Amino acid sequence: MSQRRILLGVTGGIAAYKSAELVRLLKKSGHEVRVVMTAGAEAFVTPMTFQALSGEPVRTGLLDPAAEAGMGHIELAKWADLVVVAPASADFMARFANGMADDLLTTICSATESPIALAPAMNQAMWKNHRTQRNLALLQADPQVTLWGPALGDQACGDTGPGRMLEALDIVDRVNAPAGSDLAGRRVVITAGPTREAIDPVRYITNHSSGKMGYALAEAARRAGAQVTLISGPVTLAAPDGVDLRMITTAAELLKASGAAVDEGCDIFIATAAVADYRPETCAEQKVKKSGEQISLSLVRNPDILATVAARPDAPFMVGFAAETSDIERYALDKLTRKRLAMIVANDVSRPEVGFNSDQNAVTVFWPGGQQSFGARSKVGLAVELVALIADRYRAVRAQ
Ligand code: PMT
Repeated sequence: MSQRRILLGVTGGIAAYKSAELVRLLKKSGHEVRVVMTAGAEAFVTPMTFQALSGEPVRTGLLDPAAEAGMGHIELAKWADLVVVAPASADFMARFANGMADDLLTTICSATESPIALAPAMNQAMWKNHRTQRNLALLQADPQVTLWGPALGDQACGDTGPGRMLEALDIVDRVNAPAGSDLAGRRVVITAGPTREAIDPVRYITNHSSGKMGYALAEAARRAGAQVTLISGPVTLAAPDGVDLRMITTAAELLKASGAAVDEGCDIFIATAAVADYRPETCAEQKVKKSGEQISLSLVRNPDILATVAARPDAPFMVGFAAETSDIERYALDKLTRKRLAMIVANDVSRPEVGFNSDQNAVTVFWPGGQQSFGARSKVGLAVELVALIADRYRAVRAQ
């Protein structure tokens, strides 16, 4: 991990208190940090706090004759090799998105040629407001800018929803993420876990998927800077922090939730879910009673979620998983082509120590013209490596 010169912009919002911890953690990671505060930020935290933690003078005003004697704002813009604005208020995002340079921080952001990362923080209604979303769209289209967050959850004002600033540790993870694994600003949708297809009110068809692979990928993608929507079948895992978790039960619900998530915006779609290929033709209203020695169940085909999303004209970069017990490569390559995928991750689930419901997995990833194998390792560690590979392939395909 390389040491970086980080200019931290702090704007006005209650989340500014988290920025003090952010300075401490960035310094602890070995980075040089200088802090610029807006007038609004000073209403929440004093410059003295940031000065003490960064060991550097804190700049607050553009029209400061002493600091500007040597064109301080240009010097700071050139000094930084990364600008992080955390918290980035709705007001800052509006001014910055529209090219304003009416205070020190927006002026530095206009003058710097280095990447700029924003960690938005605001009330959930302000975040959802159409003007904020319009400004957000401008920033998302700006190649110099990446968005980190916001997270979902409880807010200082008592509301719940999107708009929480990421935790300081999550921001540091993004700063420290190895080059190549960066998914900052990308929207990733991941399906995980099994589906359940009801036979009657008490019985269903399902499989052994625990959701561990999908949840680990969601966590790794979030740590790589992505905005993650995780659509999960019934599992017993805790919701990963900072991920938009949507629970489903059946394949039909998974199809609907996947379509909705892609409609909301999706750059990369990763399907780890073990979807039941068939469901009972009808679900009995009452519990089916024991009768003869044999009964038959009529099953009908479920929709293929992965193929349906891949067939959309606005299809994201599609990554499928293939759980196979024989002829792994042949079946995986067939799914890659047939389902029109960018990549497929093949599991040999005949091995008892990997695959379904295990903490470990071993896979071979195929894409048009390439492949890479990962021997047995923890699903958490594998997820980090898969996210780096997916990010790499995603960039390569976009560059074509
Ligand atoms: O959940 P864990 O216990 O951690 O286990 C992880 C796993 C073994 C479930 C995972 O690594 C995995 O291999 N997931 C894919 C399992 C599977 O259903 O494979 P498949 O070959 O049947 O399907 C191929 C692909 O099409 C998958 O991406 C699947 O999500 C998708 N699919 C399948 C059927 C269907 N009706 N709709 C789909 O979208």
